[in-house]
Amino acid sequence: MKIKSAEFVMSNSDVAKCPKSRLPEYAFIGRSNVGKSSLINMLTSRKSLAKTSGRPGKTQLINHFLINKNWHLVDLPGYGYARVSKSSKKVFQKFITQYFGLREQLVTAFILVDIRHNPQPIDLEFMQWMGENGIPFSIIFTKADKLKPKAIENHVEDYKNILLQHWEDMPNYFITSSSNETGKDDVLDYIDDLNNNMELDN
Ligand code: GTP
Ligand code: MG
Repeated sequence: MKIKSAEFVMSNSDVAKCPKSRLPEYAFIGRSNVGKSSLINMLTSRKSLAKTSGRPGKTQLINHFLINKNWHLVDLPGYGYARVSKSSKKVFQKFITQYFGLREQLVTAFILVDIRHNPQPIDLEFMQWMGENGIPFSIIFTKADKLKPKAIENHVEDYKNILLQHWEDMPNYFITSSSNETGKDDVLDYIDDLNNNMELDN
């Protein structure tokens, strides 16, 4: 898919105030600093559509972007940064859970994980929560430029082994780098296919 236009629509912390339109929506979520905002800029070929930062916790609101005038891309705040409760149960910011509970327009979420790290409990718990709540998602591995191909393969394999203990299938996944545009067409074509299928359904 070619990105012809990408416009910032609005930021807010109240899911009820998100755009009312029924355009198909795709949300990007993951730990703070995983590279969500950078990925959004890479996918849309816009340098600073979404604000990025070396300091975790930059994105604090639900940010809607209108792409090609026919679908919404959403940059969500990172989880796992804002003081997580001491109990082993991680509390995700309330409006993140509200967002996923209320946004019927959401076609699928992309859960971003840093390819360099071993599977982290907070990411696995979030995937579990999404599964239990019936919210479809794909995994996007980020920062692939930081590892050699063999190490990438090993880390994906580790993820598969852990996820297949709980899930029947490995979720759909993409390997990406915002630095060198790895995975750009794969993710955009995937979204394009979903958009086209929805038009057929309607
Ligand atoms: P929050 O909004 O704070 O939750 O962070 P975020 O997930 O939006 O991350 P952001 O895009 O702001 O990037 C965090 C840091 O990682 C920045 O210093 C980026 O330059 C760096 N980064 C992001 N993507 C990549 C990548 O693909 N490769 C490399 N090498 N660095 C990256
Ligand atoms: Mg961000």
